[in-house]
Formats: sequence, C-alpha cells, structure tokens
Amino acid sequence: MCTRQELEKLKGFLTQNRDQIETNFREVEQSLKAELRVLKDRGNSVIPEVDFKDLLEAKQFHEDIKNSVHKRGVIIVRNLLDQSTAKEILSDLKEYMRDNGEDPDDPQAIFFEIYWSKAQIRARQHANMVQIQKLLLSLWNRNPDMDGTVDLSKPSMYLDRFRMRKPGDDRFHLDPHIDSGSITRWLDPIYRQSYHHILNGDWKDQDPFTVNGRGQATMDRHCSFFRTFQGWTALTPSEPGTGTLRVLPVLKEAISYIMLRALMPDVPKHEFPGYSEPKIFYLDPKYHEVLFNEMISIPAMNPGDAVFWHPDLVHSVENVHNGAETNTVLYIPSGPDCLTNRLYLERTRFLFKNGLGPPDFQGSPQHELHFKNRGTPEDLNEDGKMMMGWI
Ligand SMILES: [Fe+2]
Repeated sequence: MCTRQELEKLKGFLTQNRDQIETNFREVEQSLKAELRVLKDRGNSVIPEVDFKDLLEAKQFHEDIKNSVHKRGVIIVRNLLDQSTAKEILSDLKEYMRDNGEDPDDPQAIFFEIYWSKAQIRARQHANMVQIQKLLLSLWNRNPDMDGTVDLSKPSMYLDRFRMRKPGDDRFHLDPHIDSGSITRWLDPIYRQSYHHILNGDWKDQDPFTVNGRGQATMDRHCSFFRTFQGWTALTPSEPGTGTLRVLPVLKEAISYIMLRALMPDVPKHEFPGYSEPKIFYLDPKYHEVLFNEMISIPAMNPGDAVFWHPDLVHSVENVHNGAETNTVLYIPSGPDCLTNRLYLERTRFLFKNGLGPPDFQGSPQHELHFKNRGTPEDLNEDGKMMMGWI
C-alpha cells in the first residue's frame, strides 16, 4: 500500500523529463487510435489462431503467427486437447466434486476451492499442454543483462482455479483490467525496467516479449508467479454472449498508453488511475475511456480449445452469460523456470504434499485436505515433476 506522499514522490521521479513524457504520450495516443479503428473494422478476426495438430507437425509457430501474437498479445489454440479428452476431464472433475460434497450444478457457485483433483493434474501435465507451454515460451526473449536465471526452454507449473459460469449469471463479470501487478509496474525498479522504453525513451522500442527482469520482479500479492501467458482451456462450448473472455488485442499501444496516462498533467499528483489497494489494476473509465469501451469478445470456443494472453494485455469478462449451458474453463497459464517461479514452486511443493491450497489462493487452504481421491505428488508424470521443480 502506497501513501499519497509516496505516490507523489514516485510521480515526481518519473516525470523529471516532462517534455519527453508528453511527446511520447501524444505519439502513443495517435497510434492507439489508429489501431482501435482497425479493431472496430476487423473485430475478433485479428486474434491469431492455430490448430494444435498443425503446430505439432511444424514444431514451431509460423512467422506470420509469431508476428501476430507479438502484436496482438493473444492467441487461440484449437484442439489443444481433443474433445473426448476435454469431456472426460470435465466428467472426472464433476465426479470428484460430487464425491466430496460439492455441487458443480449449484447455480450460485462459479469458483471452487479445488486445485488438486486428478482431472486438473491430468490437464496440467498433458503432453499437449506441456508442448504448447514450451512453444509459448519460445515467443519470449531474454535480456542477457537482467535475465541470466531465466530458462525459456523449461516451463513451470502454475496452480490455478477453474470456473463454471452458469447460464443467466451476471455476478461474475470483470471490468477491463490487467493482472500481474498494479502500481509495481511504476514503483518496483526491476519491474519498471520492463517498461523503460515507454517511460524513458521511445515507446516504439518497447518489446513486450523480452523478459527484462520480470522473472525476478515483485509483482503483487495476487500473483507470486511470472506468467509469460495467462490462459484457459475450455471444457465446454462457449461463444460471444455466453459470459466469455473479452480482450483488447492492441498490446504495445495500450500498455504504453496506460503507463504514460498516469503521468499526464491533468491527473492529480498522488494518483495513478487504475491503482487502488488491495485490488488488481482496473482501468479507470475517466482516464482510460479510449480503451475502456473497445473490448472485443473472443470467438466461439469448443471443448479442448485454449486461449492464452500476455500479462500486459487488457482483458475483461462479459457482463452476462446469456447462453444455455454452463461455461467451464480450466485456468492453465504458462511461465518459465526463473527465480520468482522457483520460489513459488518451493512453496507449492510443500502445500501440495500436505493437501493444502496453492500459494495465490489461500482463502481456505484446508478446504480440500480431506477430499477422497485427491491427487498427490505420486500422480505426477515426468513432465509434471519437471514443471513442479521436483526433477
Ligand atoms: Fe484477469
């Protein structure tokens, strides 16, 4: 939590070269508006898509896809799991829930304090999931001066929730936001280094896909893991209007706008619009209006399809689920072996061995402790052990 004085001091430090900051901002604003016009015309067709089978054959992303992911900050992977596997995982998950007194069909329940079902473990260490994570890591680069301990060839496992959004639900909606830190993007000297071209030079030189210290930076108390991509894998069909994910696929322009908008003279000295403890960074409709109303829903997804998005990407969740079927996804992001993630996994291994909830979800850590047929470290395959840092 930062005091008014600390925020004022930080802003004073960041705006020493006010002319440069304002020139940079005006350029960003122009480019952003041009990109948003393209988005208006093309909608979600700008989001790159690949079929996992093609990817497996090619063993790498095609150059066009690579460029498109770098620009858009989001990718849809079709058939990452085949439909029968996705359906089996869902059915096993529901059985585990029912066996342990949880009702997957409860119209009020969307999230559950369940992390260690064998079904979730199966999905996290599925050969295709491991393969896509390696390929996603290959879209990033290291800065040799800052990222010496980051290994982009070795994925780490992050333990996340699943979501079962029920038809008619209008409670679980999320306004446009970014995860993986809030004020820390400006405040933490190491994290801030990831944005130094935006803050101290020409925003056009910003490369969102160079780690630049993110593998050791302090992000926030909501996220103790460096995610190269956030992501979920669908276990049921969904489409626009059924409470799905919305994104703003203009990565560099939007994050540059957000970083610089806070430093403009019309913003009170002690404010960084969007920063409000203890919440994550929600866009402020007053200062981020140009971004706020431009969110686009991702296209229809089938069981086994997955979506992955960059940690700087603005995203939200549709206000209402107007579909007829529960919309279920498993959150499975990607992250490399690095200092932050090694520490995270050290904690996770202890919690896993003892049947407790994972590091970033400590609301009710004992909830799953006495569940029948809970997964244990013995259920990990070789990839699972590697991704959890056991080997
Ligand atoms: Fe989010």
